Amino acid sequence: MKKITVAIDGYSSSGKSTMARELAKRVGYVYVDSGAMYRAVTLYALEHGMIQDGKIDVAKLVSSLGDIRIKFAPAGADGRQHTLLNGRDVEKEIRDMAVSSMVSPIAEIGEVREHLVKLQQDMGKGKGIVMDGRDIGSTVFPDAEMKVFVEASPEERARRRQLEMKGNGEDVSYEDILANIRERDHIDTTRKISPLRRAADAHVLDNDRMSHEEQMDWLLNLFNVISHE
Ligand code: DC
Repeated sequence: MKKITVAIDGYSSSGKSTMARELAKRVGYVYVDSGAMYRAVTLYALEHGMIQDGKIDVAKLVSSLGDIRIKFAPAGADGRQHTLLNGRDVEKEIRDMAVSSMVSPIAEIGEVREHLVKLQQDMGKGKGIVMDGRDIGSTVFPDAEMKVFVEASPEERARRRQLEMKGNGEDVSYEDILANIRERDHIDTTRKISPLRRAADAHVLDNDRMSHEEQMDWLLNLFNVISHE
């Protein structure tokens, strides 16, 4: 059985992170949530006054990229990896609405993408990694042995995001979340650099029609086939 690279891409709140995390755990691979890295950069920009009234000071952010250290702490008692921004656990903050509503325009900045893609490629050097995001199969690891593209309707994704936010103590209306998801889909699919696209060689997983167990069986089966090839 060879060590492979697994790239899981899809729209926001499509359930891809849950799947990717669980797959990594089941097969003993490292899991990396690349969206968390874009979110951590967004939080840094917000906290350092680089975003005022929704406008981003791109020059200031680009010149600060070298000061932004992003790491992942191994899964703790809650079974989840936590994102560390310059050593601080920001797992909760990066999921709130202030970050969610600014992360897509931050992810459109070419220098931010270049910087994070390089970090992601370094993390995957030794293979044995499951990374999820938008451009993992197309740009970060175009040679990944296993590529999956997760599809789910905006309504189902909004429902899921609302449940997740409620769990974090945030009460945001379904309509606001749906509007945010649609807006992000638009930005993610139409941006100039690395827009969200299904890689031609990606396997499509329809998340609306399969139960969690069915999805995991599907993923593990694909993983076993590919890693034995
Ligand atoms: O998966 P997520 O919702 O946590 O991602 C947050 C944002 O980051 C999303 O709006 C798109 C962006 N993103 C990206 O552009 N490329 C990635 N590889 C991962 C996320």
